[in-house]
Amino acid sequence: MKLSKTFALVLVMLCMCFALLSSSFAEDGAAVYKMKCAACHGAEGQGKIGPALKGTSLSGDQIVAVLTKGDEAKKPPHKKPVNGLSADDAKAVADYVKGLK
Ligand code: HEC
Repeated sequence: MKLSKTFALVLVMLCMCFALLSSSFAEDGAAVYKMKCAACHGAEGQGKIGPALKGTSLSGDQIVAVLTKGDEAKKPPHKKPVNGLSADDAKAVADYVKGLK
């Protein structure tokens, strides 16, 4: 039964690697931005369908609020929270947006 034990160990290690990888992806603001924002705000935040985010006057916290809670005063899609965006993702992508130059 030594073989199945080794196999189980390898499996556990693979799972741990995957969990580590996927959590670091989730907090990669650039990756989140590319996936969920760039289509409307442009690859460099220069604006497209949505306004430019480069040099936005909003604070990081305000951006997080728009993304996680939505804002009735805004036009779609930001009346509602962004789908499938965790609080960590929102923070990471807000930091990324604030860093755009
Ligand atoms: C379907 C297109 C679309 C997607 C996807 C989208 N946005 Fe927007 N965004 C807009 C539009 C349109 C506005 C303008 C809303 C308004 O003026 O009321 C906007 C406004 C904003 C604003 C406010 C800008 C300001 O100066 O007031 C922020 C911040 C923002 N988006 C961030 C993001 C982030 C970050 C993502 C990705 C998680 C994202 N948006 C995804 C279309 C989009």
